Amino acid sequence: MKTIYVTKSFMPPIKEYTQHIADIFDNGILTNQGPKVQELQDKLSAFLEVDNFHYLSNGTIALQLALSALGINDGEIITTPFSYVATTSSILWQRCKPVFVDIEPNNFTIDSDKIESAITDKTRAIMPVHVFGYACAVEKIQKIADKYNLKIIYDGAHAFGARYKGKSLLSYGDITTCSFHATKLFHTVEGGACIVRDKSVSDKLELQKRFGHNGDTHFMLGINGKQSEFHAAMGLANYPYIGHCISERRRVSDLYDQELSGFVSRPAHQINLEYNYAYYPVLFKSEAQLVKTLDRLKSENIFARRYFYPSLNELPYIEQQNCPISSDISRRIACLPLYPDLSDTDVLRISKIIRGR
Ligand SMILES: Cc1ncc(COP(=O)(O)O)c(C=O)c1O
Repeated sequence: MKTIYVTKSFMPPIKEYTQHIADIFDNGILTNQGPKVQELQDKLSAFLEVDNFHYLSNGTIALQLALSALGINDGEIITTPFSYVATTSSILWQRCKPVFVDIEPNNFTIDSDKIESAITDKTRAIMPVHVFGYACAVEKIQKIADKYNLKIIYDGAHAFGARYKGKSLLSYGDITTCSFHATKLFHTVEGGACIVRDKSVSDKLELQKRFGHNGDTHFMLGINGKQSEFHAAMGLANYPYIGHCISERRRVSDLYDQELSGFVSRPAHQINLEYNYAYYPVLFKSEAQLVKTLDRLKSENIFARRYFYPSLNELPYIEQQNCPISSDISRRIACLPLYPDLSDTDVLRISKIIRGR
């Protein structure tokens, strides 16, 4: 029986990839801001219509560098409990405290109406997530940040290719981070990025991502966030297929919509968002129904994923905080298989199993 996983990395035509690898073998440059990294950085920053774009080794180091470049190494960061663990771990790794604000039930992003009451004199920043590619309330969050003089770092790991009010969703906040992990809509095997609003913060991040020194002059504490030429080669080979990946994901999502309407709940449509079809989350009526459905799929070698589970306010190594909506949704939500070459036949088969007939 064929196995279907929740995702499958897009693979470009091998010849197009090996052409980039041949270039690397010709010039012998493997890393340290080589020509492939530069080329990909230029292409992605033009595609997204953003300045100060830093291509990095992964999306987690992007979050840590974002905090560090903004000078945030202590205090409280207001964040969402409904995300991948890297959002919270990056805050803890920077020696800050995550303060969780519950989420909107409609699109699972941080509830902007609840942010102000979580602000204390220790709050330094807000770190919301455009989870599954859905837009946070960016204007409202900016107003709050302005009022209390806080920085905003958006975790945009899921938001590549999404546009909000006519511009890239990655262009909001002081810094937005992104992930180009192999499971993402656009990937470079491993990889990430920071998009920085302010040029001086961008210059600091540029130094910090390569150990904080330039030649023999050491300016500040840094880390290694650089990306290799081989990873950039995969990115350059995948780059021409971004449109194809989004439209094929849309085909799969539209078919699920048609087949599953009335059987599962879906996030609300956002009028100002050009969605990127990064994920296909479905919400079941109860955890028991979710577990039963995932087991039925598993018996047919189909692996949907509980994503995100558990809610991050319930992590065992942090002080417990109460976020009832996120805790409840985390127990009832799963992402269905979604990738460009998932066939209509497979989508129909998966949907039939979910419907129970
Ligand atoms: C919301 C979110 N933030 C951060 C990350 C971390 O990205 P990376 O795996 O590139 O380190 C991920 C990864 O999957 C993610 O889903």
